[in-house]
Amino acid sequence: MSTLKGKEAYSVAVVGATGAVGQEMREILEEREFPVERLVCLASERSEGKTVAFRGAEVPVDRLTEQSFAGVDIALFSAGAERSRKFAPHAVTAGAVVIDNSSAFRMEPKVPLVVPEVNAHALAGHVGIIANPNCSTIQMVMALKPLHDAATIRRIIVSTYQSVSGTGQAAMEELFEQSGQVLNLQSPKPKVYPHPIAFNCLPQIDAFDEDGYTKEEWKLVRETRKILEAPGVQVCATTVRVPVFRAHSESVNVEFERPLGPDEARALMSAMDGVVVIDDPGRGLYPMATDATGSDAVYVGRVRVDRTVENGLVLWIVSDNLRKGAALNAVQIAERLVAAAR
Ligand SMILES: NC(=O)c1ccc[n+]([C@@H]2O[C@H](COP(=O)([O-])OP(=O)(O)OC[C@H]3O[C@@H](n4cnc5c(N)ncnc54)[C@H](OP(=O)(O)O)[C@@H]3O)[C@@H](O)[C@H]2O)c1
Repeated sequence: MSTLKGKEAYSVAVVGATGAVGQEMREILEEREFPVERLVCLASERSEGKTVAFRGAEVPVDRLTEQSFAGVDIALFSAGAERSRKFAPHAVTAGAVVIDNSSAFRMEPKVPLVVPEVNAHALAGHVGIIANPNCSTIQMVMALKPLHDAATIRRIIVSTYQSVSGTGQAAMEELFEQSGQVLNLQSPKPKVYPHPIAFNCLPQIDAFDEDGYTKEEWKLVRETRKILEAPGVQVCATTVRVPVFRAHSESVNVEFERPLGPDEARALMSAMDGVVVIDDPGRGLYPMATDATGSDAVYVGRVRVDRTVENGLVLWIVSDNLRKGAALNAVQIAERLVAAAR
């Protein structure tokens, strides 16, 4: 079992260091001056021999193996669920705490699923692996937590508008290439997605189950219940990939046990650490993906009454999926662990 106690600085591994999330992790560790003594950058054999930038130096990228974790204190995994399942246990055996961005361990009862502003208490008693939630779930629970505490959520209906960076580097390249193809009157050729993503909306993120829901939609249902510790909350999700490079948007209808007006909801969310309310539609002010890109906050706007149900509100929630939806949340978890060990 790992120990972070008694250390001033830590040996940190980034698994998937060359990917969209891994790159953001390196930048956020640097920006937030996380006490990194040694950075171990790991990726596939395709990246062997490459270097990546960290604190003005070039760090070599090594191939991920079972032996990669000797001396590592904290391992930030972001290389897909298959790699997490195979290599995270080796990292734990070597003495590291794993913070995993994939879906591999999220629903395991012994693995805390943590958004620090929402349920940091769940970190206590972890057994070596901590899961970072899905990007769409993180931004939704950030906005909903203070409302749930005030009026108890009964039901959520969420439709997402998710950017291509949520799929990774190759999907961003695909949107760029296909946009050029369409504008040059050529037929776009899908590789990453099942259909062209340029100038299109795909109502499919991940695979479908026999009931017609996607795995991404089930993540929103199950992860929201686990993080809010509200197993009875009803959640119905529709997840859609849109031709946006970065930042996910969500339309969310929420039904509460008790009345909660838009003004009170805005005040509660404004008081929540990490949430910013931008809600002046008369002046054209509401959150947008282009504004959220590169920023840490979860933005909420278009707060209004849903008159079709008792005690209903509608919200529009936007956040950068690579930052709060992935890398920032993981680094914030690491910061909490380090603070608790001091
Ligand atoms: N993008 C998001 O918004 C987001 C949000 C939350 C969670 N996540 C999760 O984060 C993970 C990575 O996502 P991403 O968007 O960064 O994807 P990405 O841009 O495609 O990057 C994938 C990373 O994984 C590495 N990798 C792939 N196969 C590997 C192997 N066999 N061994 C070692 N490393 C391997 C790649 O290394 P090479 O460069 O060598 O191929 C690359 O560094 C996924 O589990 C994803 O579900 C992503």
